[in-house]
Amino acid sequence: MNDKNENIVEVLITQEAIRQRISQMAEEIAAAYRDCLPLLVGVLKGCVLFMSDLVKQIGIPLEMDYIAVMSYGGIHRPTGAARITKDLDCVIEGREVLLVEGIIDTGMTAGYLLRNLEARQPRNIRVCTLLDKEVRRIVKIPIAFRGFKIPDRFVVGYGLDFRQLYRNLPYIGVLSDEVTGLDRNQGTKIFL
Ligand code: IMP
Ligand code: MG
Repeated sequence: MNDKNENIVEVLITQEAIRQRISQMAEEIAAAYRDCLPLLVGVLKGCVLFMSDLVKQIGIPLEMDYIAVMSYGGIHRPTGAARITKDLDCVIEGREVLLVEGIIDTGMTAGYLLRNLEARQPRNIRVCTLLDKEVRRIVKIPIAFRGFKIPDRFVVGYGLDFRQLYRNLPYIGVLSDEVTGLDRNQGTKIFL
């Protein structure tokens, strides 16, 4: 798995760099929440590898829950429309919530989730993302904990997919345009 996949044109962030950054982030998170019991809400499925490595390094008690959202549109045509496909099991009213994302791109998905979760009246809600594709931002998102800022490239691995593939790569890699470009002229039902 450490050998570069043939469709990966560049390894953007190595396994070791991810590991190091996550332990720094975990320390920051533990310090920020040391006086309360935070609820980490992972956004499926992109968060899964990141969140499992992250929580192992956070040395304070915490709870975990997950939410899944389907965004309509595609890499080349984000629409901002989204729908929750798996809701939280927990009630978050009065809780300190940390939303954990694998990547924030246009910010539409995180914006939708923040609005939805804020309506449930948590005590506080903050955002943590491994990757931030800041140059593509349309909806402003306050990011409290960020792993890496990345350029405007389509990346996969470490939980992130292209059509459900590549999530199990242990690094973050740039996927070749020949693979992602297949979507360019298709309709709107492309789910990232
Ligand atoms: P948004 O544009 O911030 O709403 O991001 C929507 C979703 O698109 C993210 O949560 C990811 O699932 C996916 N996404 C955006 N950019 C990438 C990428 O470079 N690789 C894989 N998935 C991505
Ligand atoms: Mg996806």
